[in-house]
Amino acid sequence: MKSPPNKTPSLVDPFGRTVDYLRLSVTDRCNLRCTYCMAEDMTFLPKQQILSLEELRDAAAVFVELGIRKIRLTGGEPLIRCDIVKLVSSLAALPGLDEVTMTTNGVLLPALAQPLKDAGLSRLNISIDSLNADRFRQLTRVGDLHEVIAGIKAAGAAGFKKVKLNAVILAGFNDDEIIDLARFAVDHGMDISFIEEMPLGEINSHKRVNTQISSSSLRDKLDSKFTLFDSTETTGGPSRYLQVANSECKIGFISPMSNNFCESCNRVRMTAEGRLLLCLGNEHSIDLREVLRSHPGDSGLLKSKILEALKDKPERHYFDPEQVNIVRFMNMTGG
Ligand code: 5AD
Ligand code: SF4
Repeated sequence: MKSPPNKTPSLVDPFGRTVDYLRLSVTDRCNLRCTYCMAEDMTFLPKQQILSLEELRDAAAVFVELGIRKIRLTGGEPLIRCDIVKLVSSLAALPGLDEVTMTTNGVLLPALAQPLKDAGLSRLNISIDSLNADRFRQLTRVGDLHEVIAGIKAAGAAGFKKVKLNAVILAGFNDDEIIDLARFAVDHGMDISFIEEMPLGEINSHKRVNTQISSSSLRDKLDSKFTLFDSTETTGGPSRYLQVANSECKIGFISPMSNNFCESCNRVRMTAEGRLLLCLGNEHSIDLREVLRSHPGDSGLLKSKILEALKDKPERHYFDPEQVNIVRFMNMTGG
């Protein structure tokens, strides 16, 4: 699978969007059970259906040859895969790839932050939705807030350039904590993004329509406590950033419900079982595992399958909090 990196990106969809970012889910399992992400009784994929380390690396190598410049590892929880540090090393060594990043719940970072940094991981996003231990337990069903805070500190200590915190905000549950969460981020020299809940998967803990809260109302609340100015930074992603005055920190908003950002979409996803998802908000997917397993080493075939699939990248998502129009849960999708 070794051929020189292709400098001209060839992943351009029918709407003229260049895809240079792959979100790679390495497991659908998780050591937490966040209510907005999972139902209480989840069935996870049997191990043999999950891509092996070699299959993940081979698929990633082909994506990079096709013009992918950044890979974000996700789950489920990526750190519960015992071979995760090895995977990071092998991806970081791919010629032509600019960055390997990860989104994690942080629980296992006290042991893994330094090995991940040493293996070549460039950046980390850590989810933290509440600073209140009881609430955190309620939201995650099993989580211990102190472990996550220890994980966040470990990430800082390991010398990651910039750590970003992520908080999904649910009206009536944690919307009263946005100032504290933003303050926590600033105090730790980190950025934070507030995320609108998406209707992915049928959950039983709450009705999503009752917990919707728009990014613009969060911004109004934050404006009353912080001096914020529009940031010129564009990450090519869906986050809109504000700079916090007198600090290096930014506050971001990811607004899949209130503000459609599909026009500038630069990404695709691969699930842990090797399904290529062209869009977070659509059921459509392509089975790449079948190619990887029936034609191992045939990078040409995998390439043509990916290029063919890109023709079907939808123009945009349509989310409706009243309806669960996407049956897939976030842990199956790759956060
Ligand atoms: N809506 C919005 N964000 C979600 N996440 C998980 N499920 C949902 C959902 N239904 C978030 C996690 C984490 C990231 C991987 O995705 O909190 O920050
Ligand atoms: Fe696990 Fe993240 Fe889903 Fe929470 S949101 S259950 S931490 S995958």
